[in-house]
Amino acid sequence: MKIINVKNLEDLPRAASELIESLNGHTIIALHGTMGAGKTTLIREIASQMGVVDNVTSPTFAIVNQYNTADDSRIYHFDFYRIEKVEEAYDFGYEEYFFSGDLCFVEWPERIAELMPEDTLNITIELTEDNNERVITIS
Ligand SMILES: Nc1ncnc2c1ncn2[C@@H]1O[C@H](COP(=O)(O)OP(=O)(O)OP(=O)(O)O)[C@@H](O)[C@H]1O
Ligand SMILES: [Mg+2]
Repeated sequence: MKIINVKNLEDLPRAASELIESLNGHTIIALHGTMGAGKTTLIREIASQMGVVDNVTSPTFAIVNQYNTADDSRIYHFDFYRIEKVEEAYDFGYEEYFFSGDLCFVEWPERIAELMPEDTLNITIELTEDNNERVITIS
C-alpha cells in the first residue's frame, strides 16, 4: 500500500508521476472515490504525462474513451457511473479492452465489481476532513 498526499492542483503532476511509477505492470487501474473526488482529473494528468494529446474528459455517454500515447500505444478510459446492469458491460464488449494488454483506467468500478479482474490496481481518492487536500491510496 502506498499513500500520496495531494495539496492542490499544482501538486497533482508529482502525484501522477509517482502513480505511474507504481503501476508495476498492472494494466487495469480502478479509481475509487465519490463524485468530484478527482478521478477524471488524475487520469487526465497521467494521460498527459504519457504523451496523450487528446482531450481527456469523462466518457459519460460512450462508457469508454480511447487515447493514443506518444509511443503509439493506447489508453482506455471507462466511466461506469451510468451503467444499470452488468449485462451492459458485456454488451459493449468490455473484455476486449480489459484483456487487450493496454492500460485501462476505470471510474466507478463498483458498478461492475464482479467483472473487475483480480490483478486490478486499486486507487482510492479521498478528500481530507477540511476538504482541502486529497489522499490517494494505491493498493
Ligand atoms: N488534486 C486536486 N486538487 C484540487 N482540485 C481538484 C483535484 N482533483 C480534482 N479537483 C477538482 O475537483 C473537481 C472534480 O474533479 P473530477 O471531475 O476529476 O472528479 P471525478 O472524481 O472524476 O468525479 P465524477 O465521479 O463525477 O466523475 C474538478 O473541478 C477538479 O478541478
Ligand atoms: Mg469523473
